[in-house]
Amino acid sequence: MKTYIVGSINTDFVIECERLPKLGETVQGGNFLINAGGKGANQAHACAKLGGVVKMCGRIGDDLYGERWRDSLKDSGVDVSHVKTAEGCMTGCAVITVFEGNNSIIIDSGANSKITKEDIDSFLNDASKGDILLCQLENPIDIVGYALKCAHERGTTTVLNPAPANTEIAEYLKYVDIITPNEHEVELMGGVEHLLSLGLKTVITTLGENGYEIASRGFSKRYPCLKVTPVDTTAAGDTFCGGLCAKLSLGYDIEESCRFASAAASISTTRYGASASIPTKDEVIKYLK
Ligand code: RIB
Repeated sequence: MKTYIVGSINTDFVIECERLPKLGETVQGGNFLINAGGKGANQAHACAKLGGVVKMCGRIGDDLYGERWRDSLKDSGVDVSHVKTAEGCMTGCAVITVFEGNNSIIIDSGANSKITKEDIDSFLNDASKGDILLCQLENPIDIVGYALKCAHERGTTTVLNPAPANTEIAEYLKYVDIITPNEHEVELMGGVEHLLSLGLKTVITTLGENGYEIASRGFSKRYPCLKVTPVDTTAAGDTFCGGLCAKLSLGYDIEESCRFASAAASISTTRYGASASIPTKDEVIKYLK
């Protein structure tokens, strides 16, 4: 079974600093890195590297980086036949500051905002029951909502990573089967019980270094994650989502899929960068042993 990913592709400009600058202040940083990012692309890399069969729909710009990031997705094994170039547009971009292992991010959507309903129609043309659609919120919300609706109507399992938080997605939650918010996002969406009452089957809340919680009707349990020393948490959530879908598409249940996804996410925090930090399936298996 395949994982269809509708999502963003960004150029990440990352710099680490020992102290965050105040408004109007300049501080010395280091470890500057330009790498492939975007929640959609990171999740596609993760899903493919962790054993899934992945097809991605997105837009790059015709700048210095777009082609490079499309090629890197291809190198990870992602089908990029629906990653198109938006002429006269910059590839989406993220300026990321890493401070004490955590990050703050500013994004410019660029070409990510150019994705259309027609793109979604042709992308999901061969999606069927048993396949998975995975989305995030770095593309226009109406397009993400449309993709969820189309997939839902085809009987495809829909997974939403509601990041970055955006309450406008509320009207489309009726098309979502599994949602993967972090603590902040789940609160903004009204809490786990509220989400379940809307008809979502499973809410998986990621809790950073405290692991994750799986909740469905009449079931709720917290699970710890591997203890590691993080250097950069960028894309940890994306690695989790990609790994989750890779395992689900192979027929594993939610608990086992989350266990594997969480281990992959923990490993990613021990490395710098976004897509660059994502481990392979074999690395995760070795680590779990
Ligand atoms: O989730 C991490 C990603 O968020 C980064 O790669 C950055 O591009 C932003 O979209």
